[in-house]
Amino acid sequence: MTATDVGSLREAEVGGTPLATRHSPAQDQSPAVPPPGALVIFGATGDLTKRKLMPGLYALAVDGLLPESFAVIGAGRHPIGDEQFRAAMRDAVSRFARLRLDEATWDRFAAGIRYAQYSDADGGLAAVREALERVDRERGTAGNRIYYFAIPPSGFVPLAELLQREGLSRETDGGGFRRMVVEKPFGRNLATARELNAALHRAFEEPQIYRIDHYLGKETVQNILVFRFANGIFEPIWNRRYIDHIQITVAETLGVEGRGSYYEETGALRDIIQNHVMQLAAIIGMEPPSNFEAETVRDEKVKLLRAIRPIHPEDALLHTVRGQYAAGSVDGELVPGYREEPGVDPESLRETFVAMKLDVDNWRWAGTPFYLRTGKRLPSRATEIAVQFRHVPHSPFGGHRATPGGGTPPDAIDPNLLLLRIQPDEGISLRFGAKVPGQTMQIRSVNMDFFYNTSFQRVSPDAYERLLLECMLGDPTLFAREDEVEEAWRVCTAILDGWRAHPPDRVNCPNYEAGSWGPDEADAFMRRDGREWRHP
Ligand code: BG6
Repeated sequence: MTATDVGSLREAEVGGTPLATRHSPAQDQSPAVPPPGALVIFGATGDLTKRKLMPGLYALAVDGLLPESFAVIGAGRHPIGDEQFRAAMRDAVSRFARLRLDEATWDRFAAGIRYAQYSDADGGLAAVREALERVDRERGTAGNRIYYFAIPPSGFVPLAELLQREGLSRETDGGGFRRMVVEKPFGRNLATARELNAALHRAFEEPQIYRIDHYLGKETVQNILVFRFANGIFEPIWNRRYIDHIQITVAETLGVEGRGSYYEETGALRDIIQNHVMQLAAIIGMEPPSNFEAETVRDEKVKLLRAIRPIHPEDALLHTVRGQYAAGSVDGELVPGYREEPGVDPESLRETFVAMKLDVDNWRWAGTPFYLRTGKRLPSRATEIAVQFRHVPHSPFGGHRATPGGGTPPDAIDPNLLLLRIQPDEGISLRFGAKVPGQTMQIRSVNMDFFYNTSFQRVSPDAYERLLLECMLGDPTLFAREDEVEEAWRVCTAILDGWRAHPPDRVNCPNYEAGSWGPDEADAFMRRDGREWRHP
């Protein structure tokens, strides 16, 4: 059955008021406003600051979620002044914020923006320290500090060490709280991730470290937890007895977008699977936490990651498919191949597509594989989790004895499929079989759909807004803990080792056209297991 055959039963048609829009007291909770504090952004003149951090902070200001006593100190290597920095940030916010710039709100927010030049040399943080002391006096930021490392990974350890040497990292140094936010990539493999964890721990204690994975800030990803653990009907069937397999897809139409040299070093496995997709797998597969405390939730996630069966490097090719895109057409536009992108080696063998299978060795999931897939330059942008249930054990509608008037044989009945759409078209659908009206017992798949935008009619905050807020509130639930990152690397490192030992065949690289669903091997890989990929 193709997607176009699937009928659509909207919530409203399923009966009365859509459940999703009924009011519950939980919806009336207002988010907490963080305590006073200063956020220092290292890498203040970079892209992340412009595109995500400042627009995110501004949106929090609009929503009244920043404390009165708040300051942002942009720390960079360029010698610019407060005014010049503010003007650049104003421009960034008007270009990238999801909300239109409102002059009065901007002025209030901008009054707390400062700039400080820094360097890695000893004493290189003098201006940052001075700015922090000044905002404590002028804006009442109370000695609370968050250091956002929006810098390339090579700078993580030197900066953490410098903060430590200058007495700015420890909470025991006096003053208020000290937190650090670190971006991905968090290491290149298990060994380097462990080294990085150890190095950061020389400056900061684990509870002070907030490792960002922006997928955890997405509304729809948090909703997976709500869907699983605030509804009674799914948990009893959320296991190997009822679920045949799970597919997690992060498909992008974009190429490497001017980040060719970064991607040459990274590739799809490190860029997307090790962090975003492993986090999704942990959330979809974890046991129910007993509460929503950071450590309880993260303990359950890490237990799932630990249960992933180790893949021996020698078996890496049996469990994975790599791909690289050639020139092709996406959304009707001709696009160059990966090797033609700026910053990419014309003979590069770097993967821009990965498909893989994980087995989870625990009672819930034994025998129910998780298939993961990501790729650049695929035909559509879609991040989704498809939970494919088992076929009915027996169909009374056809089969050995012909049903009078014709019927549907058992293997023609689509199994139930629960689709969690993370983006775009955020929502959830459940596919089930329905009787086609008429004199026969013909069955066709239909969908029961929940769409965020029709049920809630409000724009979801950007992932960074939520994560910045959580960090200011001191809640690390939506950040990756040390052991989560290491477990995800354990799985990915074995694959990387296997891939290095068995590089792709030059004749077969690139192996998929931009605008296709990846290499043919990815389909063959699924067919071997008697399954097929969903193509969103
Ligand atoms: C980033 C990757 O972490 O996630 C990018 O480095 C990728 O390569 C991006 O494009 C995808 O994020 P989103 O939120 O657009 O799905």
